[in-house]
Amino acid sequence: MRFLPQGETLRVLAPAKINLALEILGRRPDGYHDLRTTMLSVRRYDELSFIPNAGEEVLLRVLPSSPNFVDVPTDDRNLIIKAARLLQSKTGCRKGVAITLRKQIPSQAGLGGGSSDAAATLVGLNRFWKLGLSSSDLHPLAAQLGSDINFFIDSPVAAVCTGRGEQVEEVCLPSGIPIVLIKPSTGLSTGDVFREWSRPSPPSDNILKENEKVTWKGITFGFGNDLEAPARRLNPQIDRVLKTLKAESVPSAMTGSGSACFAICRSTRQAQAIARRCQQRRLGQSIVVHSGV
Ligand code: C5P
Repeated sequence: MRFLPQGETLRVLAPAKINLALEILGRRPDGYHDLRTTMLSVRRYDELSFIPNAGEEVLLRVLPSSPNFVDVPTDDRNLIIKAARLLQSKTGCRKGVAITLRKQIPSQAGLGGGSSDAAATLVGLNRFWKLGLSSSDLHPLAAQLGSDINFFIDSPVAAVCTGRGEQVEEVCLPSGIPIVLIKPSTGLSTGDVFREWSRPSPPSDNILKENEKVTWKGITFGFGNDLEAPARRLNPQIDRVLKTLKAESVPSAMTGSGSACFAICRSTRQAQAIARRCQQRRLGQSIVVHSGV
């Protein structure tokens, strides 16, 4: 994430992520699943502004000009509010804040927008309220709020995440890889996709299973996402996206629990051309990004 202090206001840019690979290792007694996933930060940002607010209240508004304004709750269903209140209760901080969110990362997409917003709130308010917490103080709070938030706390370009997803080990992958993101019009809930994964199902013809590997600057990535088959059963739009990307002969996969998919491209120009073709076919919102924070 990036910090842009402006007078009394602190602006924070919260990046999105993609899952280059996601393997489910098994069901846990607590109802979650153990997994192993390689996450890569990408330069598409939600923008959070923290503005002083009298009293202890935490207020959130979403800018209506945001491209992904719809469906973002502004009450305590939003992880931003939960993160701010958790910080207040853990530290006894009696300060308030007015938070403005410009939502640029599509929701229900597997792009980590809500998780990145929560991490930006923990790290940003720690600075804004001068709480003096360290990153290792913030990690348990992140894990309490969700499974993907820890990845964003220390802003690595990439990491292998295990456990529920909250155990983060940074790995060295390059910034600047051109990537196309395609978000079908219908999104998916992470809980629904994990539940669908648990259901007995016919053997899947995982579109990408013969799997694709890409080497970029000497590093080889493997792709494969165990949540792809259940997500495709719940949302057939994903099939069209993956088939189209496969026909483009670029390494591609679904990210997280979907419904967004990505393709790793050789150049920004190639990424722009693929994004244009996906847009023309009305596959969904098509966005060109680069890896990095
Ligand atoms: O932790 P988070 O709130 O992001 O997870 C949303 C839902 O996804 C959980 O309620 C759970 O149903 C499912 N999940 C899971 N195993 C994981 C992560 C998430 O079953 N490792």
